[in-house]
Amino acid sequence: MFFCYDSLVIGLGSAVGSVWLRTAGVLEAYTERWALVTGASSGIGAEFARVLAGNGMHLVLTARRGDLLEELAQELQQQHMVQTLVVVEDLSSPGAVTRILDRVAAQDITLELLVNNAGFGFVGEVTETDVELMLSMVQLNISALTELTYRVLPGLLELGHGAIINVASVVAMQPVAYMPVYSASKAFVLHFSEALWAEARDHGVTVMALCPGTTRTEFFDVAGAPGWLKKKKSQTARQVVKEALRGLERRRSYLVTGWWNYLSSLAARIATRKTVVTQTMKFFRPRSTGDQDDS
Ligand SMILES: NC(=O)c1ccc[n+]([C@@H]2O[C@H](COP(=O)([O-])OP(=O)(O)OC[C@H]3O[C@@H](n4cnc5c(N)ncnc54)[C@H](OP(=O)(O)O)[C@@H]3O)[C@@H](O)[C@H]2O)c1
Repeated sequence: MFFCYDSLVIGLGSAVGSVWLRTAGVLEAYTERWALVTGASSGIGAEFARVLAGNGMHLVLTARRGDLLEELAQELQQQHMVQTLVVVEDLSSPGAVTRILDRVAAQDITLELLVNNAGFGFVGEVTETDVELMLSMVQLNISALTELTYRVLPGLLELGHGAIINVASVVAMQPVAYMPVYSASKAFVLHFSEALWAEARDHGVTVMALCPGTTRTEFFDVAGAPGWLKKKKSQTARQVVKEALRGLERRRSYLVTGWWNYLSSLAARIATRKTVVTQTMKFFRPRSTGDQDDS
């Protein structure tokens, strides 16, 4: 069965600190080094910022909601004594990447880790789909991520260390009915990142695609499927980030978080493409809000 999520409490035995001592091999060192996290105002991005700051990294935080970024920046400064740079930008608008990187350069910041996390999805039938929204999804999930990657990666290659984590999704493994643009955008992220992983690895740099399954964030409210989390087994953003950093430590080209998500991704490889995509209709068919809130 595809997308058969099961509940699992991820083993928390591996302390973040020890992960980072080893991940330091990827980044050379983590304290006093700078990471840029997009989509840091909530969910997985905010957790990346917290965990990285907890290990001494300075953070460039970007998203549209400046109030949330400022709150997070204060929290990180107070709790972890790290430096932060808040850059409020809409990454689906032209020139946003240039403006962010200009602010970074103006502060003489050398980035050693990029977390391309900002993204959104939409669940719905073709007739209820806003074309402009789909184009802005392509702009954010694909174009901005591509531009940031190509603008940051050469610097990492020159340093001979560092990493890029591109947040894809477990839906990157297959086409998904009722989420065609979102699943295709994440397939792009997965293929793009894996190809760059192969190119970069001999230069000491890791490019990893992170493929979470259902994660308890604002994602489903934004995607128009608020009842989804009540029906699906899920992970916390903290669990996803911890697994991601363990994967980075192992210099993985991609990482599916949650073993049940991994199994479903394998099932999608074995079955015919027709079977895979028609099966997704059962799991992703939009329902009325009332239906989604049931069970
Ligand atoms: N939650 C899941 O189940 C799940 C599963 C697989 C993959 N993912 C992926 O994980 C990533 C993070 O999502 P999340 O689950 O943490 O959801 P989230 O809580 O909704 O976070 C999305 C982040 O992206 C930012 N963002 C959205 N549109 C933006 C824009 N135009 N410009 C700049 N920033 C923008 C949002 O900030 P502002 O609104 O402040 O701009 C927010 O910080 C996404 O790429 C998503 O596709 C999520």
